[in-house]
Amino acid sequence: MLVKKMKEQAAQMDGQKVEIQGWVRTNRASKKIGFIVINDGSCFTNVQVVYEQDLPTFEQAGKITLGSAVEVKGTFVYTPNGKQSFEIHADSIEVLGACDHDYPIQKKRHSFEYMREIPHIRPRANSYYAIFRLRSVLSMAIHTFFQDQGFVYVHTPIITGNDAEGAGECFTVTTRSDDKYDKDFFGKHAQLTVSGQLHVEPFALTYRNVYTFGPTFRAENSNTTRHASEFWMIEPELAFADLSDDMDCIEAMIKYCINYCLEHAPEEMAFFNQYVDKGVIDRIKHVANSKFVRMTYTEAIEHLEKVKDQFENKDIYWGMDLQSEHERYISEKIVNGPVFLTDYPKDIKAFYMRVNDDNKTVAACDLLVPYVGELVGGSQREERYDVLESRMKELGMDQSILQWYLDLRRFGGCKHSGFGLGFDRMLMYVTGMQNIRDVEPYPRTPRNLIF
Ligand code: 4AD
Ligand code: MG
Repeated sequence: MLVKKMKEQAAQMDGQKVEIQGWVRTNRASKKIGFIVINDGSCFTNVQVVYEQDLPTFEQAGKITLGSAVEVKGTFVYTPNGKQSFEIHADSIEVLGACDHDYPIQKKRHSFEYMREIPHIRPRANSYYAIFRLRSVLSMAIHTFFQDQGFVYVHTPIITGNDAEGAGECFTVTTRSDDKYDKDFFGKHAQLTVSGQLHVEPFALTYRNVYTFGPTFRAENSNTTRHASEFWMIEPELAFADLSDDMDCIEAMIKYCINYCLEHAPEEMAFFNQYVDKGVIDRIKHVANSKFVRMTYTEAIEHLEKVKDQFENKDIYWGMDLQSEHERYISEKIVNGPVFLTDYPKDIKAFYMRVNDDNKTVAACDLLVPYVGELVGGSQREERYDVLESRMKELGMDQSILQWYLDLRRFGGCKHSGFGLGFDRMLMYVTGMQNIRDVEPYPRTPRNLIF
């Protein structure tokens, strides 16, 4: 029986015979009695197994090492006044898979840096054990949020022929090691997707509300705690929606995800609150209950100009791309919570964003949050064929590659908007974890490819 089930039914199970399999977290024995703590993988709770001298294998049991896989048969004992609400008194303990003495996780606190070197063992350490289950819970939160509202989940390709963002930060797909790889995808140039947005827009112009949820790849050589070369992104796209509708959807999604994690992973969240980021639960609860601030880029620049002396980059002017120190100042010092920055200068944003009437700014929004920085990037899309075409010309883009995208504007194109949520950053935000490398099972960052 799984421990999760036992926990739910503990009060009714006193005295029953049970059997569990799991991995040893601690084991200590004296001459007469021993205690093995086991986690069976079904929940965060460990089970204490008590074994006594009358156990035929008492001596061997005392020598079972941390990390071993074991099977225990015994009696369930309900302990409502104990630290855990139950324990198991062993009739037999069998080692299914022994663990060598050089097991990398010992009974002490290991640094995150150390743990990153051993990704195959890492999930068994408490912080990671909690994080990776939360990854799964947060994925379900995303799907449930969108599915409940009738959004269609679209699988956009990982191998693609276009650089959606136009930022040129793509990994090329090749099977060759020489320098003739340029047309290596059966005679065509191909790369790993940086975003599913362009591929999902046609589906929004069919099903109205859609979303992608998959891996994306960026070849930017950023060595920060928030950038990875491979990360997961959720990209919803909404037809007949403007930028304000887009921001309403983002805000509702974030709040839903926070509440979902608190409800579906209470033990893991309590762990983060105690050991990783004290107070994180109250902070995200507050976020889930307050209205997100909306501020234009122009207003943000006015604020920043007044305090420019405290930045490393003091050169604040309208038209600049904000650095993370500026973004953090806005969300941490000015707002102290999530803030949408809107209407950025068109020259620092992607070609597909809808140009505003001032002809200088675009209908874009970035959601900035304390400590993590940019969590979401979104925009209303340029639905006017001629405006989009001249924008692409202005930027010197190869129109032939994206003629299909332009053509969507001729075939029933309409107002539509969308955004991209960085899944790994969202996980950082909800848990208080400070490095993107510690929320990904096998992080891929520059200078970091283990296995
Ligand atoms: O702002 P970005 O580049 O926007 C897009 O890709 C749009 N096509 C989205 C859309 O409108 N459909 O990326 C979206 C989000 C960022 O806000 C950030 O949270 C995350 O993706 N992100 C990264 N996360 C981890 N590592 C990186 N290197 C990231 N780059 C972006
Ligand atoms: Mg962005």
